[in-house]
Amino acid sequence: MRSNLSLAKAHARQARVWAVVKANAYGHGLANALRGFSAADGMAVVEPDAAVRLRELGWRKPVLLIEGCFDAADMARVAEHGLDTLVHCEEQLALLEQANPRTGINVHLKVNSGMNRLGFRPAQVSAVHARLRALPMVRGITLVTHFANADDGNNPLLPLAEQVRRMREAAAGLDAPLSMANSAAGLLHEELAESWVRPGIMLYGGTPGLKSAADFGLRPAMTLSSRLIAVQEIAAGEAVGYGSRFVAEKPTRIGVVACGYADGYPRQAPNGTPVLVDGVRCALAGRVSMDMLTVDLSAAPGARPGSEVILWGAGLPVDEVAQAAGTIGYELMCAVAPRVATAVRDED
Ligand SMILES: Cc1ncc(COP(=O)(O)O)c(C=O)c1O
Repeated sequence: MRSNLSLAKAHARQARVWAVVKANAYGHGLANALRGFSAADGMAVVEPDAAVRLRELGWRKPVLLIEGCFDAADMARVAEHGLDTLVHCEEQLALLEQANPRTGINVHLKVNSGMNRLGFRPAQVSAVHARLRALPMVRGITLVTHFANADDGNNPLLPLAEQVRRMREAAAGLDAPLSMANSAAGLLHEELAESWVRPGIMLYGGTPGLKSAADFGLRPAMTLSSRLIAVQEIAAGEAVGYGSRFVAEKPTRIGVVACGYADGYPRQAPNGTPVLVDGVRCALAGRVSMDMLTVDLSAAPGARPGSEVILWGAGLPVDEVAQAAGTIGYELMCAVAPRVATAVRDED
């Protein structure tokens, strides 16, 4: 995590870096994020509870609520814990206006530059900015936008350049710092770094749908590992597991791994999804069940109960497993279940 952050900082050049640590630091744990990202300029979360937890864990640098406050109680916590908050709609603006805390608050004004999830339209931005500036508790105002196609900048439905153009139009004459780049924009378009960048997935060693993470120099932060708990020797024509989805074409050793969808392994992973057994690439064979999954051990004839299994991470990129399963590395990382025991290993 430290090494990935250094890389993000190098790409960010003069800009400051919010380490995006929502969703329990994309499944990696807030305490780990604090250690791995101690050199970040701030931490960004969605969950107000997580923001408070970061303060309790001792993080004194900025903490940003990247979806802003959901109610007045959140606004009170912003003041109490010195959080930065975001304002993306009229209702949140009203919450801020009504709160009237005594402490100064840094506010991030969200601009809808085409994503059409959160934010004010560019034409509304200068009026909202003026209303914010008129509030005595508002200290600084940063303009924020989020890209729909940073990984595929020429998408004709909403080219990256068009979102940037709309953002600059919204910002014209306001002299406000800008915050635009997520991981994909940070990696591919350093010129968009501006005042702040907001990398998430790259800090954990995944990519936002680009070429392989390793090609960018990113290192996997999370390894999901388990062991074989049984081996079955099956004859040609025999099937494995629910729905008998895998049928052996030849006599086959099947390894049973103590990891299932209740641990966060994707149930939709098809036969052939790569799994490392004793460091050798094997193929998922049969439907993933709640607590177990099954692997064709043809490539690892020495494997036996107790053999180490890596589902993703060191030696097996999470993005590759995700692609096989028809999803993205983000979802796999975030979905690792609470029952999975975690161990932290420090490396440089
Ligand atoms: C507003 C915002 N900024 C930044 C990020 C980080 O994106 P990524 O993980 O693709 O770098 C996210 C993630 O969804 C986000 O919602």
